[in-house]
Amino acid sequence: MKVIPLPLWVGGGRGGFILIAPNYKGIIKRYREFLPEIDDKHIITILEGNTPLIKSRNIHKIINPGVDIYFKYEGLNPTCSFKDRGMTMAVSKAVSEGSKAVICASTGNTSASASAYAARAGIKSFVLIPEGKIAAGKLSQALVHGSIVMQIRGNFDEALVIAREIAGDYDVTLVNSVNPYRLEGQKTASFEIVDELGFAPDYHMLPVGNAGNITAYWNGYTEYFKAGKGGKLPKMLGFQAEGSAPIVLNHIVKEPHTVATAIRIGNPASWQKAVAARDESGGLIEAVSDEDILKAYSMLASNEGIFCEPASAITLAGLIKLNERAFFKKGDVCVLTLTGHGLKDPGNAIKVSKEPIIVPCDKHSVLKVMGLA
Ligand code: F0G
Repeated sequence: MKVIPLPLWVGGGRGGFILIAPNYKGIIKRYREFLPEIDDKHIITILEGNTPLIKSRNIHKIINPGVDIYFKYEGLNPTCSFKDRGMTMAVSKAVSEGSKAVICASTGNTSASASAYAARAGIKSFVLIPEGKIAAGKLSQALVHGSIVMQIRGNFDEALVIAREIAGDYDVTLVNSVNPYRLEGQKTASFEIVDELGFAPDYHMLPVGNAGNITAYWNGYTEYFKAGKGGKLPKMLGFQAEGSAPIVLNHIVKEPHTVATAIRIGNPASWQKAVAARDESGGLIEAVSDEDILKAYSMLASNEGIFCEPASAITLAGLIKLNERAFFKKGDVCVLTLTGHGLKDPGNAIKVSKEPIIVPCDKHSVLKVMGLA
């Protein structure tokens, strides 16, 4: 008799509740054969990965009914961003090598993830963030997980230089995406997409900040393809915010700015690798305005019920932009990675939405607002 394990609802530290098989043990155990070797006893996991791939129910009808749009909702990782896939690998390796502390520079999500995984591992974490330019949810995460949080009077690029130097000189492991284990973990998102669809999509769209994730996804698709999975390779489409678009402009941006603070980066560490992913796949990297990012952000929340942070919504803004120039053909399958949960950045959600209506405390007044009296 075949025993099929019953699914179990698992929640806890997740941004929402998702369905997980009871034997799910995180991305390292699931995709071990494609990842650097690590002993079971050193694995630090909070059961990251296994995030839903959600098919568009409404937005594709508004944009282009001939195109299949899927959202890879990475906001449903344990710390509510894709960083957890890389962090489980990087912190597990750090622990296996005897490291007692990690350090990172961050626009917010890396710091949240590093802090959580370091807490789980029982080691110290130090995070450098740009003062005043980090969403409230992310800051609260780094603080509550017990990191030493340092707000730098400078931007992400400057903070990363300091973090790299310290990690080079002292016994502290750097867990930014320049740590090769980060990209190894993050490539597993491509595996999940191919496993779920049964094939690789035609296009894969991602926000580009420090440019690690687009590199990781491309590595994932190519490694899987070589292993006979996916059937083809997708074209990688990356998007940067107009005020922080060094790859698009082909020069460093000294003072990057954008409402999408997660990708407020002027000198990406994986710049050349992202360009290689773009060119090898036959894709492109383009810039999108803050206005279009925020429109897409509201559109996703109000039309699909999916709440992501502004940086993540740049993928939809980019898709809309490309569609306006008749970029897609009928039947194309597009996967958009929604990199972080919307609750990370409640400030922007409130800013782009209508204010709540103040109503006297009686039924008649409520009915009047409802248009029923
Ligand atoms: N989306 C979100 C929500 C991010 O937090 C980041 C990067 C990106 C996209 C871009 O990914 O850097 O691999 O190109 N956040 C980093 C951080 C820089 O510090 O949290 P990337």
